[in-house]
Amino acid sequence: MRITAYRKAHFNAAHRLYRPDWDDERNKQVFGKCSNPNYHGHNYDLIVGVTGAIDPETGYLIDLKILKDIIKNEVETAFDHKNLNLEVPEFAALNPTVENIAVVIYQKIKKVLDPKFDLEIKLYETPRNFVVYKGEK
Ligand code: NI
Repeated sequence: MRITAYRKAHFNAAHRLYRPDWDDERNKQVFGKCSNPNYHGHNYDLIVGVTGAIDPETGYLIDLKILKDIIKNEVETAFDHKNLNLEVPEFAALNPTVENIAVVIYQKIKKVLDPKFDLEIKLYETPRNFVVYKGEK
């Protein structure tokens, strides 16, 4: 029997979408307002899903306190109130689109999560725009 537990989290962060090898005009064409050279912020809503079997001894899939602490350490402390381009090393050379942010979050959590679990990242950049990443199968 497999079941999925979800934990919601939130962070605010600033970013600029651009390619350094393109001029401002082309960046503006492709990335629009998100390419503002002076950066801008988003309120990111994160939903982390963990899938596996219920432990017959505890009745738990995962102690949600453990998942809460992982999200706090790997995502909230690292990203909240940060400029993603300038202050988060993963985005020094990676465009901080919602797609790339979701993949980075997946990789960071996967590294410290018990490997018996499958992981799913749902990341909202706005209330209407979000992506889901479940890793490569
Ligand atoms: Ni943006």
